[in-house]
Amino acid sequence: MNIREFRFPDDYAPTLKLWQSIETGVKVGRSDTFEEIQKKVQRDPDLFLLAEHDGQIVGTIIGGYDGRRGMIYHLAVDQSLRKQGIGDMLLSEVEKRLQARGCVKCYLLVFADNERAIHFYENRGWVDMKEDKVFGKEFP
Ligand SMILES: CC(C)(COP(=O)(O)OP(=O)(O)OC[C@H]1O[C@@H](n2cnc3c(N)ncnc32)[C@H](O)[C@@H]1OP(=O)(O)O)[C@@H](O)C(=O)NCCC(=O)NCCS
Repeated sequence: MNIREFRFPDDYAPTLKLWQSIETGVKVGRSDTFEEIQKKVQRDPDLFLLAEHDGQIVGTIIGGYDGRRGMIYHLAVDQSLRKQGIGDMLLSEVEKRLQARGCVKCYLLVFADNERAIHFYENRGWVDMKEDKVFGKEFP
């Protein structure tokens, strides 16, 4: 098992396949097309990480840093390899890299009914910002 940076374009298809296999917690959407992932990798190549096991992609995490806040997306681990510390390794590594970039505060979104992920993040120092409401806007 090793953690490495996402390599575009070769990793795109197996990564998308992994995301599509995730039962809940990762919504594959318009930011996950080939072109959008290429944009993301060009911007933050050191923050898009994969877990690899026997040559297979078994885990992912995407970090982002805009110079003020960090964001984390698409933390996912293959269902057959959970509870072995892979999620923790991915999260720790991206947190470390965000801090190295100068990031002092980071956000992530969790589906409100994703109890397992909520518990996972809370056990790792993440706090539910109940006083805040998340707003979003889609651009064409
Ligand atoms: C959330 C998710 C990424 C966690 O991945 P994971 O690889 O299972 O994570 P870990 O193995 O590091 O930790 C999971 C739990 O197993 C425990 N664990 C780790 N190694 C273990 C071992 N050898 N034996 C027993 N338990 C173990 C951890 O302590 C942790 O427990 P906790 O949640 O109570 O703290 C995974 O469940 C997943 O992909 N879920 C679907 C997608 C999703 O919801 N993503 C979040 C998007 S916001």
